[in-house]
Amino acid sequence: MRILITGGNGQLGNEWVRYLNKQGVEFIALPSSDLDITDHEDVRRVLSNLKPDRIINCAAYTNVDQAEDEQEKAFAVNEGGVRNLGDYCASNGIKLIHFSTDYVFPGTEEDYKKYPEGYTEDHPTNPINTYGESKLAGEKAIERSGCDYLIIRVSWLCGKFGNNFVKTMLRLASERDQLSVVHDQYGCPTFTQNVVENGWVLLENNISGTYHLTSKGKITWYDFAKEIFTQSKTDVKLEPVSSTEFPVKAKRPSFSLLSTRKIANIPDISLIDWKKGLTNLLAELKS
Ligand SMILES: NC(=O)c1ccc[n+]([C@@H]2O[C@H](COP(=O)([O-])OP(=O)(O)OC[C@H]3O[C@@H](n4cnc5c(N)ncnc54)[C@H](OP(=O)(O)O)[C@@H]3O)[C@@H](O)[C@H]2O)c1
Repeated sequence: MRILITGGNGQLGNEWVRYLNKQGVEFIALPSSDLDITDHEDVRRVLSNLKPDRIINCAAYTNVDQAEDEQEKAFAVNEGGVRNLGDYCASNGIKLIHFSTDYVFPGTEEDYKKYPEGYTEDHPTNPINTYGESKLAGEKAIERSGCDYLIIRVSWLCGKFGNNFVKTMLRLASERDQLSVVHDQYGCPTFTQNVVENGWVLLENNISGTYHLTSKGKITWYDFAKEIFTQSKTDVKLEPVSSTEFPVKAKRPSFSLLSTRKIANIPDISLIDWKKGLTNLLAELKS
């Protein structure tokens, strides 16, 4: 396999780099400075030089609140950039592995009651913020390109590299005595290490299509914060607040649980409990 990782400097890109190095698999990872996926010519030139047979696309515009003010930029990367990759892959027989999000779904309170196991892969999409819309547009661009693709939707992504909720909570707790975290948005964390381990199983078995991949469990951000402070033995006063008490630029879904039933049926896939994923991550952050 000749693997190319795009967005190699991000949270997930770095995790792939670490994993493939450990496995002794040959690959090339390019940061955005070496390959800007929004630049059609750059994509064509770099890919025709490198001639990969698998592209793992970790490049994305991921700032959910800022996307409301930078719609064009969010769509340029999450739709236009992904279309460039999909079209090139389709014309050159390359498989595209791409990551998407729980935010493609509407995430209403009613859906919380209707779908206790979470949204399935074929549930109708209907994003409520710009980031979600741009990610959905990227999924559609891949499907339309006609390339062989694997789309993995993850939620609440956390890992050793880059920025995420776990790191933010630990930082804020070191700066303040009291923190408020929303207790009315339900979902489940996904840990980057688990994504690449299971992603590799899908790659090796040449699985195509759309899959949901998260840890096991259904929690709120407040539950997550509470467990972060319990496990890390951090002393901070934590207050549960409602989303209305914590205004942010982009609307957030009340419910963004992804059903993992489909992926769990694939042999050798191993989904972990979210608390166990957190234990592993905290140990890594400490070391
Ligand atoms: N983070 C989450 O909570 C979350 C949740 C659900 C789904 N996801 C999805 O999971 C995937 C990985 O997310 P992540 O957390 O690893 O994101 P991340 O840490 O923000 O990394 C994204 C990477 O994409 C690069 N990038 C941005 N624009 C680019 C361009 N035009 N060309 C090439 N590279 C570009 C960035 O490079 P620069 O730093 O140089 O800009 C950055 O290294 C994404 O598809 C994301 O939508 C994430």
